[in-house]
Amino acid sequence: MRWQIVTGSPESVKAQAIVFGVFEDLDFTPLAEGKKLAESARQIRFKGKPGEAFFAFDLFGAPAKHLLAVGLGTRGALGPDGLRAASALAVRKLHERFLKEVALALPLDADSPQARSEAISALTEGLLLANERFGRYKTGEETPYDGLHACRILVPKRKPEYEEGARRGEVLARATLFARTLVSEPSNVLTPARMAEEAKKLAKEYGFTLKVYDEEACEKMGMGAYLAVARGSKNPPRFIHLSYRPKGARFRLGLVGKGLTFDSGGLSLKPADNMGAMKSDMAGSAAVLGAMKAIGELKPAVAVEAVMAMAENMPGGSAYRPGDILTSMSGKTIEVLNTDAEGRLTLADALAYVQRQKVDAVVDLATLTGACVVALGPDYAGAMGNDQAFLDEVLAAAKGSGDLIWPLPLPEAYGKYIKSAVADVANISRIRGGGALTAGLFLKHFVDEGTPWVHLDIAGPALREEDGIDSHKAEGSGAGVRTLARLALSKGA
Ligand code: BES
Ligand code: ZN
Ligand code: ZN
Repeated sequence: MRWQIVTGSPESVKAQAIVFGVFEDLDFTPLAEGKKLAESARQIRFKGKPGEAFFAFDLFGAPAKHLLAVGLGTRGALGPDGLRAASALAVRKLHERFLKEVALALPLDADSPQARSEAISALTEGLLLANERFGRYKTGEETPYDGLHACRILVPKRKPEYEEGARRGEVLARATLFARTLVSEPSNVLTPARMAEEAKKLAKEYGFTLKVYDEEACEKMGMGAYLAVARGSKNPPRFIHLSYRPKGARFRLGLVGKGLTFDSGGLSLKPADNMGAMKSDMAGSAAVLGAMKAIGELKPAVAVEAVMAMAENMPGGSAYRPGDILTSMSGKTIEVLNTDAEGRLTLADALAYVQRQKVDAVVDLATLTGACVVALGPDYAGAMGNDQAFLDEVLAAAKGSGDLIWPLPLPEAYGKYIKSAVADVANISRIRGGGALTAGLFLKHFVDEGTPWVHLDIAGPALREEDGIDSHKAEGSGAGVRTLARLALSKGA
């Protein structure tokens, strides 16, 4: 979709439809037909609350335009999240009428340049994200409709921060869409090798340095935990390392993404119901690649080392087994008690590798535990870490980004539940509760004490079971992309 920033009255803008944002005071006066519209709004009991919308047709002369009123809640309480939700809701409604050209009149008159930039960025994200669907495998629709083609964004006055903010919003949206597509792609298409090709395309486009290690090369580096997970599949593993090293960078950020292109559970096989959702078990690595795309576009002055240990967890003849003892790259040994707790094994070696790149801090993203989904539900990622200040920075980057992240504890006292009788650590907890935390504690074994580290468990939001604010049912969400990109921007500022 093309977007353009314009000024003027909503009625005068060229478009098939006008989206008009209304607060709960139902003030339609900026529109010439405002009085009539306020009356109709009251008649149908439209309250102007977030999530509400109504259409009016045959307005503003010839050719007649559609008017879509969207609720914005109480005046003064509207921020980036509200604007993103309003523009995304508007797009969904416009799709119902197969419209192609729209003008958006939503309040963008925040009081600082920074706030105006954030506002229009969020609006643009909602617009572009809601407009796109993963439709590449649907063939033979009679009259295909491919969403909105053009949008004019009305601003009260031309200002550079509007152009800059909308451009950043577009970059963040396209990076998020890229990650979404990778997650939505099925595992027969998106293999470890294919993921390495995607990394190669990014490296070429943005001038990143790329290293891709095959099984033999990983063996040489001593990645016994990661390789054990990969052994049961015919699709060979690929360990991907992208680096971005701009001049003048004073900080080096490590990003690690869990990259299971499919997680059958291995010999500890998962139940058949909904196993297909496990094509999304590479959402952490998709988020890292998505963030690298945004970083390549926005070029913050921060160095980034992005690492993805790609593998498929399958129960083939050479699969690893419960009872196996693995030696990880760090030298620590791990007793496998369940082959379905594979993500933490791949991450153990990825974390060891990234720390050899002399990073100042590390964030890992992983669809790590069903327990995190039980704890926080489908929308929130859980955040754990070993350094409160760095955790706060990650949470600040998430705030208003479109990603929902909530902190969880890493209680030292739960360490006893992952003790092993025969190795340094066991890959599952011996008790039922707190699975997201014991998984986090397992990872902590592979992080040096002096390395600030945040672990984001994105098992809930990675693949949408229902429509989200700007994401669609049964598709990848791109969870984490915007948080990581914004973290890099803040580190590079
Ligand atoms: N990939 C799964 C976690 C998951 C669950 C992601 C639901 C997305 C949605 C992970 O590898 C896994 O299977 N974890 C096990 C760990 C258990 C064996 C300790 C789990 O959560 O059940
Ligand atoms: Zn698993
Ligand atoms: Zn998994």
